[in-house]
Formats: sequence, C-alpha cells, structure tokens
Amino acid sequence: MSNVVIVGTQWGDEGKGKVVDLLSSSADLVVRFQGGNNAGHTLVVDGEETICHLIPSGILHDGKKCLIGNGVVVDPTVLLEEINTLREKGISVSPENLALSERAHLIMPYHNAVDLAREVAKGKDKIGTTGRGIGPCYEDKASRTGIRAIDLSEPETLEEKIKTNLKEKNFYLTKFLDANPLEFQPIYDNYLSMGEILRTYITDVSLEIDQAIRSGENILFEGAQGTHLDIDHGTYPFVTSSNPLSGAVCAGAGVGPDKLHHIIGIVKAYTTRVGAGPFITELLDDTGDYIQERGAEFGATTGRRRRCGWLDLVILRDSVRLNGLSSMSVTKLDVLTGLNTLKICVGYELQGKRVDSRPSSLKSLAQCSPIYEEMPGWEEDISQARKLNDLPKRAREYLNRIEELTEVPFSIISIGPGREQTIVLQDLF
Ligand code: GDP
Ligand code: IMO
Ligand code: MG
Repeated sequence: MSNVVIVGTQWGDEGKGKVVDLLSSSADLVVRFQGGNNAGHTLVVDGEETICHLIPSGILHDGKKCLIGNGVVVDPTVLLEEINTLREKGISVSPENLALSERAHLIMPYHNAVDLAREVAKGKDKIGTTGRGIGPCYEDKASRTGIRAIDLSEPETLEEKIKTNLKEKNFYLTKFLDANPLEFQPIYDNYLSMGEILRTYITDVSLEIDQAIRSGENILFEGAQGTHLDIDHGTYPFVTSSNPLSGAVCAGAGVGPDKLHHIIGIVKAYTTRVGAGPFITELLDDTGDYIQERGAEFGATTGRRRRCGWLDLVILRDSVRLNGLSSMSVTKLDVLTGLNTLKICVGYELQGKRVDSRPSSLKSLAQCSPIYEEMPGWEEDISQARKLNDLPKRAREYLNRIEELTEVPFSIISIGPGREQTIVLQDLF
C-alpha cells in the first residue's frame, strides 16, 4: 500500500493531468483536494483528448474511485456538465466511481459575478483570474457564510443561506462594483434540482479514504494549479485562493500526514504562466514564440495564450522545499527539441547580490534579473523515446543538471501528450 501526492511546481499547467492519468492504473482511489474548475487537466489516450476541470483525472480508468475532497470548491453546474460530457464519450460516471465531499463549498452564481466584476473594476491591475468564482467562494468559506454540498439536501438551510448571502452580495455588486443584482428564486430552484441529481454522489470523503487505507488500497492525490500560485507561498496577490502545496492534502481531503508516502512534483521542462504576475525568466522574443507554438501553450480552461520562458530553478528549489518532494516528473521535454542553446536560471541578481529563493516583496522581485547557465540543445525527435537511453546525450545532460541543482531525482519523463509517450524510471506504488 502506498499513497502518492502529485503537485505542480511552477505556475500550473505542468502536465499534472497526464501524470495522474498515467499513475491511475496503479491506484484504487484518485482524490482532488483543493482548487476548483479553474483547473484544466488534459489527458490524451489513443489520440483522444479529454479535459478534466473538477472530476479527478483517474476517471478514464475502469474500476477506480474518484473523490472530490472538502478542500475543493465545486460549481455544481460544471460538475454535472462534466459528468455528461464524459458519458457522451462512453465513459461511465456514477456514484460507483465518483463521489463529492459533504463539506465541499459550492460556487454560487454570485461568486462568478463578483469575480468577473472585480476584475473589470481593477482594470490594468487585474489578476487575470479564470473568472470561475474561485476567490469569492473561498472568501465565503473563510468568512463562514459559505454553502456546502450537504446543504443541498436541506432545502430550508439552503433557502436561508442563499437569501442572507444575496442581501450582502447584491449590495456589493450594485453599489460597489456597478454590476447587476441576482434574483433568489432561479438560483434556489436550480441548486435544489441539481442537488436532487447530485444527492447520491455526496458522501464523507475522509471516511472513504480511511476505509481504503484500512483495506490496503493505493491512493493518488491530484493537486491543481501550482506551488507559485499558492495563496501563502506564491507570487501574492497574483495567486489563486487555495493552497496547491502537498501539505494541503491533509486539510483538503481529511487525511493525516503519516498516510502520505511519496510526493511527486511535476516540472515542465521550461516555464509557463497564464494571467498576470511576475515571471523572471519570461521570453518576449522568437524563442518564447517557438516554445509557445511547439508546446501548444494555450490555457486548457480559458484558452488564453500562455506566457513562456526558460526553466527557473529558483522557483523550482522553493517548490522542492515547500512540498517536500520525493521525486520529480519532467514534462514537455520534447518541446525543447530544435533549440541550439538552452538556458537554466540558477539564481536571481538583486541589487548586485545573488539570491537563491524568490523574494516575498513584489517590488524586490521586479528588480531581480535572472542568472543563466547555458547548455547545448538537441535536434533529434525524442517523442518516440521509451527508455532513458533513447534520449540524446544532451537531453540527458539537461535532466542531470536539473537533478543536481534540485537534489531530487526524476521518476518519470514525459516526451509527448499521449499516455504512452512516457519513460518511467521508478515505480511509485
Ligand atoms: P495540467 O493543468 O498540469 O494538468 O496541464 P494542462 O493539461 O493544462 O497542460 C499541459 C498540456 O501539455 C496539455 O495540453 C497536455 O496534453 C500537454 N502535455 C503533457 N505532457 C506533455 C509532453 O510531455 N509533451 C507535450 N508535447 N505535451 C504534453
Ligand atoms: P491547473 O490545475 C494555470 C491562475 C489564473 C490566475 C490566477 C488566479 O490547470 O494547473 P483563479 O481563477 O484561480 O482565481 O485565478 O491563477 N490559475 C491557473 N493557471 N493553471 C491552473 O490550473 C490555474 N488555475 C488558476 O490564470 O492567474
Ligand atoms: Mg491546466
């Protein structure tokens, strides 16, 4: 029995979905523990693409149970749409293989409205959120006014909570954000009817996990977003509103830290970021365009073009420390094929001094410039490689250098979006 946590080490979109799908074959349970449908996790099996926003990326495997933990914020409309989309593809989704925590907070229409109107109000200072209501939902959770999945089965509680919340939200929307108010009845009717459908999926996820552990089953915990979007440790305020770190599994799924055996950090072979915020190794030149095009770097949730840059070891080393990584999986190594020279940012220069960890102050960060180490690139197509020795020497040297600088070994190398385009170096279960 072994339980594995998968986290993103950069600013999201590292390829977590692909690795979760791959490792799901060895797991019995796949569990999401934070974030919401701001996530977009892409799985490619036999050439067919599936994008999971809320449902754990283990769903394509028969006989696996997918759980949405209490730390996730759930938009029931999106959850039902995702269930239907999967069914249309011939994938069976039922309470047999999917469950939602009673304690998960629900994204309500006023959360989306506030998220969108606030971004408009911020103008050029906007965060570039996904507009899915994530921040406002977590705000209500923290201010103890949130509506939880369990409330869907108690019509009176639901009615009272929506009415109370709407009073405040409508005041804020109309008087401060200059947006339209929302009506009680359509929201209430809609959530009540969605509750009817979701009722059989709603359960105590922590208890299910405990049962699985007692039966000796393997569990895979699927992180969303990335370490540097973490609300505490990320590039605040250009972050999401949850903790994508490995430690968040405990609170977000209801499991003790002694039950986590291996933490794998997903590392894109270069760096990308969607939305606003600091990005020291960003490339605003032809090389950046080359990576963006070859990597098809468009957001899986919002379709926005992703900003691209060189691999940043400063943020990667921070991620090793913050998550306690046991191993790393590099993804999209194939995208770097054809570049003459590769650069790795090994430190930042700030006011004439070298810094090895990302400063907390955005002002200081804005004054940082990257210190690069250069390595020769490779020309060969590596997308068909299936073992380490199939990779050109220069690709192996690039990986060795990253291992040296992070002091963490690679366990998986991904060289294409397909499930089979993978080199597995270590069995994690
Ligand atoms: P996630 O949010 O971390 O799950 O990542 P996304 O799915 O948002 O973005 C990763 C993108 O890269 C998806 O389109 C994947 O299909 C694709 N991808 C994953 N691994 C590889 C790889 O090794 N090579 C290439 N070329 N594409 C990959
Ligand atoms: P996955 O799981 C990349 C970014 C948004 C924005 C910031 C805040 O696919 O890696 P939010 O809507 O969360 O309030 O937006 O966080 N962001 C992501 N970027 N991948 C994600 O998820 C993201 N989820 C949120 O672009 O900059
Ligand atoms: Mg994504």
